[in-house]
Amino acid sequence: MIRLSSRLSAVFDQVRAARTELGPGRVIDVGSDHGFLAVSCLENDIATDAVCTEIHNGPAEHSKEALREAGFEDRSQVIVTDGLNGISLKAGDVIVIAGMGGLNIIDIISRCLENESPELIRQVRFVVQPQKSVNLVRKFFAEKGFVFDDESVCTDREFFYNIMRMSFSGTSYELGAYKECYGVLLPAKEKNGDALVKAYYTHLDEVFEIRSRSDLVVREALNERMKHEDK
Ligand SMILES: C[S@@+](CC[C@H](N)C(=O)[O-])C[C@H]1O[C@@H](n2cnc3c(N)ncnc32)[C@H](O)[C@@H]1O
Repeated sequence: MIRLSSRLSAVFDQVRAARTELGPGRVIDVGSDHGFLAVSCLENDIATDAVCTEIHNGPAEHSKEALREAGFEDRSQVIVTDGLNGISLKAGDVIVIAGMGGLNIIDIISRCLENESPELIRQVRFVVQPQKSVNLVRKFFAEKGFVFDDESVCTDREFFYNIMRMSFSGTSYELGAYKECYGVLLPAKEKNGDALVKAYYTHLDEVFEIRSRSDLVVREALNERMKHEDK
């Protein structure tokens, strides 16, 4: 059995939640690199089959090797492509995009929305874990009409990571600075005493304190947080 890092375990948990909601089906791991997530999904019967996409040949070979070694050659495909280009989505797919910059994630999902019908997008789920530009990813999802099914936070080697599980409704909405920066579902988790989210927010408040000097959206979010918290 593959042992996932804390970050990939947290991604895996959201994939499992999406699969539980949708029932048995495929997992598509965009930017699979070593292929560990796909192997883990197959080992744990989270996925009936897996598709890994990779923009580079080297990581694609690593994914192929990991899937072959784990005995899943017949239940997996590794495709060298940019994002989801050339992949026909199916109802029930769970699409994972983890460990990439937020702008890259936005670009990949934007192209997917251009190529697939809204009816089909309604029937798939996205699990994303941006390395940066988390606020822009949240803004993008709201503008495009996605619903936040869940957002979790994890730590891995002293860094915080956010994992979002998203479904599509097609009704766009505005988040506003506070929800873009602090999340849609995380504030309630903090209120309910989630220790990890509390620690994450302590860290975020410090980061935003500095960033607010040059970033007006962050400044607005921080001001709103001060008001909420009566700090
Ligand atoms: C830092 S790794 C993360 C790997 C894995 N998803 C994880 O979370 O551990 C990012 C991977 O995404 C691949 N990648 C970057 N942009 C991509 C794109 N547009 N389409 C497919 N793969 C991409 C890179 O080649 C690299 O292997």
